[in-house]
Amino acid sequence: MNYEILSVQIEDADQILAIYAKSVETQTASWEYCAPTIEEMRHRISEISKSYPYLVAKSGDIILGYAYASLFRGREGWRFVCENSVYIAPEYQGLGIAKALMMQLIEKCTKQGLRNMMAIIGDSNNIASIKLHESLGFNYVATLKNIGEKFEKTLDCVILQRCLA
Ligand SMILES: CC(C)(COP(=O)(O)OP(=O)(O)OC[C@H]1O[C@@H](n2cnc3c(N)ncnc32)[C@H](O)[C@@H]1OP(=O)(O)O)[C@@H](O)C(=O)NCCC(=O)NCCS
Repeated sequence: MNYEILSVQIEDADQILAIYAKSVETQTASWEYCAPTIEEMRHRISEISKSYPYLVAKSGDIILGYAYASLFRGREGWRFVCENSVYIAPEYQGLGIAKALMMQLIEKCTKQGLRNMMAIIGDSNNIASIKLHESLGFNYVATLKNIGEKFEKTLDCVILQRCLA
């Protein structure tokens, strides 16, 4: 599949929202219950991309998926740590796109001087996400047991860490 990995543009917000909304409504990857509005999604993209890399995989005008880094914790001592998010449209999963996006994200975050990237995986049953991160050199840190709630189920959270230095 031919695609390019590009920095996000604000015009990408509609397609990013479509991918994210489908996941919010049907999966436990995000513990948000309702998809944000388009205005809120534009705001999130513009705020995050001021400080961190935000990448899209694009084939022609179609966004296949996206990945970005964001603030992990706000206090000064955490400033070299980021968290990552990655979503691929269901019809383009299993093609190596998340891995390609994440490799560029890791490279850009490293160049920017960030020292650690955290994957906070919102459900211990999200094998695809756990395998993706392990294949990128993330190490298992911990499982927070019975810590979240979505679709009337109690969920575990898996934490992985990748050193960027
Ligand atoms: C998790 C997700 C981003 C993976 O995207 P993808 O483009 O299908 O993943 P890739 O094709 O790049 O696969 C990368 C690696 O993960 C592994 N992997 C991906 N999906 C897998 C699955 N369902 N089961 C087992 N391994 C899987 C691949 O085998 C590959 O490993 P390799 O490099 O050793 O061959 C995608 O399933 C998704 O968007 N899920 C919904 C949102 C989500 O859960 N995001 C993560 C939030 S923490």
